[in-house]
Amino acid sequence: MSQENSTSQFQGKTAIISGGAEGIGLSIAKALGEQQMNVVLADIDKDNLERARLELQSLGVPVLAVSLDVADEGQWQSAAEAAVERFGKIHMVVNNAGVGGDSGPIESQEKEGWQWALDVNLMGVVYGAKVIVPLIKEHGEGGWIINVASMAGMGGVPYSGAYNATKAAVVALSEAWSEELKSKSIHVAVLCPAFVQTRIYDSERNRPAQYKSKTLRPGDESSFSKRAREMVQNGIDGALVGKRVVEALNEGELYIFTHPNYRPVVQYRSARIDEAFVNAGKSPLLQHLVDQKLDML
Ligand SMILES: NC(=O)c1ccc[n+]([C@@H]2O[C@H](COP(=O)([O-])OP(=O)(O)OC[C@H]3O[C@@H](n4cnc5c(N)ncnc54)[C@H](O)[C@@H]3O)[C@@H](O)[C@H]2O)c1
Repeated sequence: MSQENSTSQFQGKTAIISGGAEGIGLSIAKALGEQQMNVVLADIDKDNLERARLELQSLGVPVLAVSLDVADEGQWQSAAEAAVERFGKIHMVVNNAGVGGDSGPIESQEKEGWQWALDVNLMGVVYGAKVIVPLIKEHGEGGWIINVASMAGMGGVPYSGAYNATKAAVVALSEAWSEELKSKSIHVAVLCPAFVQTRIYDSERNRPAQYKSKTLRPGDESSFSKRAREMVQNGIDGALVGKRVVEALNEGELYIFTHPNYRPVVQYRSARIDEAFVNAGKSPLLQHLVDQKLDML
């Protein structure tokens, strides 16, 4: 594989990428491979995992594939052990594995669907960091945590409560961890793509039995999820995303955006929040707080 950057800060280091068997995870794996990183692909889909491993190997990337359900902390431990055994150290975790979850009106959302989204999209990220961060601290060379959230984590999308909630939580965690890990030279970034051409609209394929809906029939699709599928299919080329991640990490960015055209969405939200503070500042109930200085700033 061609070396795009001969002085890459990533060269010779090791990344573990959850959900690395296809889609955005595989795109990031290839981009990191181009930076001469060792790559550990970790995924619940064993067939795709092997296909992805062979693809990276054919590109000359030092690669290991490990089976992983991100919702199981014990499996994260085993994956990390296998990675350390093969490559000696881990410097980066890319918490990318995610599922679309159920969509539809609030009252149609079942607890199995909520639990699935929470366990994979949120706890999967928590376990990934919990297991890998101590290993990065231990070798003391610094490293990276890349959490894959979504534009859905930057503002609410109707009819998509569980997905929104988990992605907003991943943005919040990333902001908190960024502060927490600064002194350990561990850079935290949160990737917030809008629509990217992947199979995220067909996450159902990876839904374990315990999270299956008791009432929804397989093949049931709300009009919202049909529209979301079309948006994903018309999204940007997945291959762009990995390269964008490397570019943004080289700039030391916390938030990594892939769709500059979505800026007004975030600006609109920020303006509404700011306006609400202005209103709170006018409240006779709160005048004693208006000029109070904050220690944290
Ligand atoms: N595609 C988009 O438009 C889009 C937009 C914003 C955010 N994202 C996020 O990007 C991430 C990657 O999704 P994608 O679009 O590449 O989807 P994808 O469905 O193509 O790929 C997801 C990968 O995660 C794996 N996976 C699913 N459940 C898992 C589990 N429990 N443990 C381990 N691996 C598991 C799948 O096997 C697959 O390889 C997700 O977190 C998703 O929410 C995607």
